[in-house]
Amino acid sequence: MPNTALDTLLAHRSVRKFTPEKLTTDQVHTLIDAAQHSATSTFSQQYSILSVTNPAKLAVLGDITGHHWLEKAGHYFIFLVDQYRNQQLVPTSATTAENLHSVDKLLAGIFDATIATEAVVTAGESLGLGSTIMGSILNDVPRLIQLFDLPELTFPILGLAIGHPAEQPEQKPRLPQELIHFENQYQPITATEPHLVAYDALLKTYYQQRSTNQREETFTHHIVTEFSRDPQQRAGILAALRQQGFLQEKQ
Ligand SMILES: Cc1cc2nc3c(=O)[nH]c(=O)nc-3n(C[C@H](O)[C@H](O)[C@H](O)COP(=O)(O)O)c2cc1C
Repeated sequence: MPNTALDTLLAHRSVRKFTPEKLTTDQVHTLIDAAQHSATSTFSQQYSILSVTNPAKLAVLGDITGHHWLEKAGHYFIFLVDQYRNQQLVPTSATTAENLHSVDKLLAGIFDATIATEAVVTAGESLGLGSTIMGSILNDVPRLIQLFDLPELTFPILGLAIGHPAEQPEQKPRLPQELIHFENQYQPITATEPHLVAYDALLKTYYQQRSTNQREETFTHHIVTEFSRDPQQRAGILAALRQQGFLQEKQ
């Protein structure tokens, strides 16, 4: 069991198989507490966390994400951008309305919700739990808005399946630091950059040798596949954002 924050961070891997044991109420409160101690943009705490415990609602989330294994997790959270709560606190004026509906406040809510998500992931891992963040809840935002009665100025940004791990996946090697950490000036690369070529070879070995779902894959090929997906699959996100009242500032 890791015993320092750094050990926990460096041991991260996503977990997608869980034992049947559910999280206790105390554990859930501890995880929320960890989320709430994250930094928050302009100290506005512009996010909310939804615990999904209803089996029928979890099944709908399984349909939306394609990840029916989430129904077997020890707990499921949805992290919401939330400017609705703060809207209730401010007097109505053209200025407050323009701010609340702005891209700036949308981004701030996304920062807050995302940072809170990662805090729960890391807090969970420090307690011996495993988890997987799910952007795939964005496959059908209108259905989520309806399912959870989400008011205007809220938006479901990430799901998180968390629980007691029933697997210990190998860690996925990350890009060499030369490709993601620059000093004073951005360093552009090409597909033949030696660090990238070496990383492709490293990931090829990882995918060939890992204990589950072995396949022929490199990082470059993976990225090409990701960018070749049907862009229409999540075409409804912008409309859903506007439906929730975001991105309505004057240009
Ligand atoms: C914003 C975000 C969205 C993600 N969405 C999904 C998802 O929908 N389904 C899934 O299985 N994993 C999802 N993941 C997990 C990534 O696939 C995973 O972090 C990545 O493959 C690296 O593996 P690791 O976390 O085990 O190191 C997501 C991760 C992030 C940060």
